[in-house]
Amino acid sequence: MRTTVGIIGAGPAGLLLARLLHRAGIESVVLESRDRAYVERRQRAGILEQGTVDVLRAAGAGERMDREGLRHDGIELRFGRRRHRVDFPGLTGGRSVTVYAQTEVCKDLIALQLKEGGPLLFEAEALGVEGAEGDRPRIPFRHQGREDVLECEYVVGCDGFWGVARKAVPAGVSRVFERSYPYAWLGVLADVAPSHDELVYARHERGFALLSMRSPAVSRLYLQVPAGTEAGQWGDEEIWDELERRLETDDDWRLERGPLTQKSVTPMRSFVHEPMRHGRLFLAGDAAHIVPPTGAKGLNLAVGDVVTLARALAHERQTGSPELLDAYSTTCLRRVWQAERFSYDMTTLLHRAPDDTPFDARLQLARLERIASSRAAETDLAEAYTGFPLG
Ligand code: FAD
Ligand code: DHB
Repeated sequence: MRTTVGIIGAGPAGLLLARLLHRAGIESVVLESRDRAYVERRQRAGILEQGTVDVLRAAGAGERMDREGLRHDGIELRFGRRRHRVDFPGLTGGRSVTVYAQTEVCKDLIALQLKEGGPLLFEAEALGVEGAEGDRPRIPFRHQGREDVLECEYVVGCDGFWGVARKAVPAGVSRVFERSYPYAWLGVLADVAPSHDELVYARHERGFALLSMRSPAVSRLYLQVPAGTEAGQWGDEEIWDELERRLETDDDWRLERGPLTQKSVTPMRSFVHEPMRHGRLFLAGDAAHIVPPTGAKGLNLAVGDVVTLARALAHERQTGSPELLDAYSTTCLRRVWQAERFSYDMTTLLHRAPDDTPFDARLQLARLERIASSRAAETDLAEAYTGFPLG
């Protein structure tokens, strides 16, 4: 099998890249190790930055998002049983975010790719990347029990944190920057209307809690739990009791309960692999970087990477100049590190670490008070949350 751009992974990064390349008249093949149902059901991100929404719309993938996505003009910070709303448009010159689940973004992009785009092979596992330093990189893969090879001009690793593409960068070239956290998120889906019309990020002595949503009838909630926790260790009522405690306020706000339909634990990690390119191999999305989820940045970063890459590949085709491809890693990393910084700040602002001292707790509260009382501090948060410009 032969193509121009071989894409490993059909998460948001791989699917959107294939779509953007198709629109630019560049051929690609996407290899995805899982089956379609799995990719369409995997519960993850929920928040799209304004820039991500604009990109999906421009790619012709915004129709259902525009109908079903929920525009949010702010978030609420909860601490010391009080509530503080951050008003995005008022602080950023009109920017907002949209609640539209990653599962739905993937469903829309898969349907478009299968209808209009190049081959998208499910249950096709890339086994590695060969010849990245030469002119004809290759991806050996296994599809329906058969081994095959995809010969390409470029390979893009969109295969997430656990993928194979990053491993093709020689050890002497790779630089890795990382941090782990002593806590994780227990996430649940609940068949109950969200108890608030915007997201609530809560800092509590017992740990962080987040109230989010998937639709006007489905809530998505998260609890900080110790790293290494298994979802089965928490009973449904125990989860609701703990959410209630951490989200409690001094006014008459109430958390509505409903049946839980899904439960899972997400570890928290900060990770950046530099550079994001080696020869004709490019890394995009979680394959190159991970942020802890508190800032809602992971999916949006993946979108930024593939927009930058699609533009660079189209530029090379049209002009013969590799200038933008050569700048790919540096361009993306500027935005990646801003998202790393913001995600780290949001995480340490709201979570409680096992070795936190009373001094650390007071500092956290002082940082929150600062956001609640200074327009400059609040604007900093609002600008980062609604998204950094694409480079
Ligand atoms: P992935 O979605 O991981 O896709 C990689 C794909 O590659 C997968 O389909 C995988 O099966 C496939 N693959 C792997 N290895 C191979 C192989 N060898 N061969 C072929 N295919 C392979 N981000 C936000 O922006 N906002 C949020 O609100 C947010 N909330 C989150 C909440 C949770 C609980 C979690 C876990 C994440 C959250 N994120 C959020 C992060 C976001 O989900 C990820 O950053 C995003 O999925 C990255 O997309 P990707 O395409 O790079 O990687
Ligand atoms: C969701 C996830 C996040 O990481 C976040 O910061 C906000 C919302 C969500 O899944 O809805």
